[in-house]
Formats: sequence, C-alpha cells, structure tokens
Amino acid sequence: MAEPKVNELMEKIVSLSKRRGLIFQSSEIYGGINGFWDYGPLGAELKRNVKELWWQSMTRDREDVVGLDATIITHPKVWEASGHTSTFSDPMVDCKDCRGRFRADQLEGTPCPKKPSKMVTECSAEKTAPRAFNLMFKTYVGPVETEDNVAYLRPETAQAIFVQFKNVSEVSRQKIPFGICQIGKAFRNEINPRNYTFRSREFEQMELEFFIKPDEVAHAKEGAPGEDVSTDSPEPNWGWKQWHQYWVEQRLSWYKSIGLPADALELHWQSDDELAHYARATVDIMYKFPFGVQELEGVAARSNYDLTQHQEHSGKSMEYFDEESKARYIPHVIEPSAGVDRMVLALICNAYHEAMIPNAKGVPEKRVVMRFDPKVAPIKVGVFPLLKNKPELVDKAKCVYDMLKVHVASFYDETGAIGKRYARQDEIGTPYCVTIDFDTLGEKAELLDTVTLRERDSTEQSRVPIKELLSILKAGLGLP
Ligand code: GAP
Repeated sequence: MAEPKVNELMEKIVSLSKRRGLIFQSSEIYGGINGFWDYGPLGAELKRNVKELWWQSMTRDREDVVGLDATIITHPKVWEASGHTSTFSDPMVDCKDCRGRFRADQLEGTPCPKKPSKMVTECSAEKTAPRAFNLMFKTYVGPVETEDNVAYLRPETAQAIFVQFKNVSEVSRQKIPFGICQIGKAFRNEINPRNYTFRSREFEQMELEFFIKPDEVAHAKEGAPGEDVSTDSPEPNWGWKQWHQYWVEQRLSWYKSIGLPADALELHWQSDDELAHYARATVDIMYKFPFGVQELEGVAARSNYDLTQHQEHSGKSMEYFDEESKARYIPHVIEPSAGVDRMVLALICNAYHEAMIPNAKGVPEKRVVMRFDPKVAPIKVGVFPLLKNKPELVDKAKCVYDMLKVHVASFYDETGAIGKRYARQDEIGTPYCVTIDFDTLGEKAELLDTVTLRERDSTEQSRVPIKELLSILKAGLGLP
C-alpha cells in the first residue's frame, strides 16, 4: 500500500517522520491500511500542541466563543438533514482491467495500481462512467445489522454544533453574535487517499460555527466578496461579509503565529462553481506544500442553511430571540473549518531544513534541523550531563530535568557524545538544550550552578545560572 514517490523532499520528510516517531503508517506490521496514520511519541506532542493553541485562541482567549465535545456517531437523521446522505459523494470510475476505483476528477495525478510508473489517464483500459460514491463510513448501532440500525461516522464535526445550538445558546447565555467550537475526529471514505496524511480517511477537524445576525437584522454596510471591509474590532451588527472577512484575517494571523510564514500561505476565493450549495462565499487558506499549494482550512459563509435544515427535519425550532432588536430569526453562520493533520503536515514541511553544522571536530556536516516554532515544538528542552559515567554530573542534570519537566516538555539524554545529542535534538526540532558540566559543579568557582544553554537555530551557546534557567526558557518559548 506504499504511496507513489511524489518528490524527493516529501520522501525525506516521510522518512524522518517515521525514523523520529512523528508519524507511522497505521497497522504497519500488517502491511498498513491506506488512508490511516498513527502519530508516534513526538507526533502526538506536536498534534496536541496544535490543538491546544487553536483551542486557546478560539475559545479561552475570547468571550464570544464556547466549546463543545460531541459524539462521533449521531442519529442518522442528522446526515439526512445536512444533505450528507444524499449529496456527500465523489464521482468515481472503475477500471475494467485493474479493477481500481478512482476519483473521476483526479485521474490525472493518479498512478495505475498495476503499473505505478504510469498514470491512470495514460492507460487505455476501459473505464466505467462516473458514479456517485458516498464518502460516509457506515456502521450499525446495536447487535442487529438491519437498515433501521444504520449509523454513520461523522464526516465533519460541524453538524453536532448545529444540532446542539439550542442547548448551548441557552446554557452559555451567549448573545448573537457568538460561536461554538469543537475539535474531534472525522471520517471520510476517500476514494484516493494521497499526499501522505494530507488526504486521509480518518482525520481530525477543528471547527468553529460563529452565529451572526441575518442581513435584515444586521443592517450592516456590505461590500462585495473580497472587498476590503474594515474588520479591526468586531461589532455585533456586522453583516456576514464583515464577519467572514474578520474570520479570514483572524485565522490567517493565527497560522502566522504558529510559525507558518506569510509567503507560504495563500487565500483562494472559491468561484461560484466551486462553492457548496449552501455557501455564499468560501475562502480557502492554502499552504505551499512540497506537492503543491493545497487547502489547510476553509472559511465559509454558510447562511442559515444548516439550522434551517435541522429545524425542518427535527421539527424543533432553531429560532433565536434577539433581545436588542426584538427580532426572532434563524441565525446565519460563518465557519472556519481546519484540519489538524494538514496543519501538522504543514508544520513538519515548513520546519524541515538541511544545514551545515560543525561536528565535534569542527568540520561542517550536513544535518537536518527541524525549525519548529517553539510554541509547537514537541520537546522544548533537552537536558544532558556532559558525561554519563560521572554520578555528580548525572545527579545534577536529573535535578535540572526534574525542575524543568513540570513546566515545559523536556527530554533527558545521557548517551553518546554531546554533539550527537545536540544533533538528535535538532532533528526533532527541540529549541533549547541544556548541558551540565564540571563548571556547573564548581570546577571554576565563579561558574558554580550555571549551565550551558544552546539555541537550536543559531547554535549559539551561553552560560546561564540554573536559578534563571526556567524564566529564560519561558521567555524564549513565548510562555507566560
Ligand atoms: N464543515 C466544513 C467541512 O468539513 P471541508 O472543506 O470538507 O469542510 C474542512 O473540511 C477541513 O478539514 C479541510 O480544510 C481540511 O483541512 C480537513 N479535511 C477535509 N478532508 C480531509 C481529509 N480527507 N484528510 C485530512 N484532512 C481533511
């Protein structure tokens, strides 16, 4: 089930990710399963950091957004109401020769399973006409496998937010405009999983549904989609275009805050024929991956389509009474919807650097340095005793490690030459390393209880007192 080799850089990234425990193929010992990936020890930390930073900025830092943690399996009527049962499908064709099944709109870049060096488009074998293939994973709830018991693994986290809109708005006592956000797994039976974790069958989403006033209540100044509307400070009476623009800007600046450079990010305004039927406008935030410029997140103006659908299908009112305008309405929604796995992949691709770094003998060597922004780096600090066979050094290093590890993700390493240990940490993107040597123990009296602090990107080393170490590290890591 190996993926085709997209390019050399991606090969290096995939190999490093496996070697250093960022990402493994799911069920690898059984040959893998296409479209499913596991995060190893470092990948789990990286992913957790991304989710925590998103959660912090989307809800904890804001007074107008609250969180939700809903189930993966819901009542199947949710997907009837949302339109997923009837329309969440991709056109697919079957090859009558190799029996492969391919997305009709992606034949161009898809290699033939029989002859991987050839693209499906180059193969002359007969193909079926395109047929709609529903992407939702089906299962049964309870012991009896009948049509009545069919349920689906959610293909997006968004719908549970709409379904719980009434409950959340009542208990949180939020007033429109306000949002509900959620992080969680989503499942799509993608016909052609591709580009490593980019298009997977099981992935995680981070979604916000931000409920706003409908146009007739908002009375807002509107511009054309994409027109520069001032969105410096949010106002309750903004119309959908301003809120949409506002969220595009918020999300873009968040990506920059976690270390993705502005020149690697692009906005793509979906054209009328790309837009989903419920969307008034959608802006995709794109990242320049080694395999092309691809979507990280979609920011959609979804009108009041979903709440209206759930009102109709459930028979329960989704109306909101606006105290201020004394109007009753079904709120409209702006939806920034991001994929955790794509974000993690973008961070890994962006961090990957090959640098010439002097080895122990001072000879420059080509090495991989993962230049993660310190906020997302899986490990923040490596702690080393200069020598592992000197108990005084080991004891002191363990003391420093114990002091740091309760505050920041730390890693203790005593094996190999010190240069090797730095190299190992560079390769996983650890921003700082601390070495405990004989001067720490007072060999030079004036250096007693000081350590060497090495910075990953500059490779600069400085001598700092242990009692100031934590505050210096926190400042460098951007922590309070
Ligand atoms: N609720 C709206 C929604 O789900 P989407 O554009 O289908 O919109 C949103 O998905 C985000 O979820 C995408 O921008 C992407 O980051 C992520 N995503 C979607 N399908 C994915 C897949 N097969 N593998 C990994 N991430 C995916």
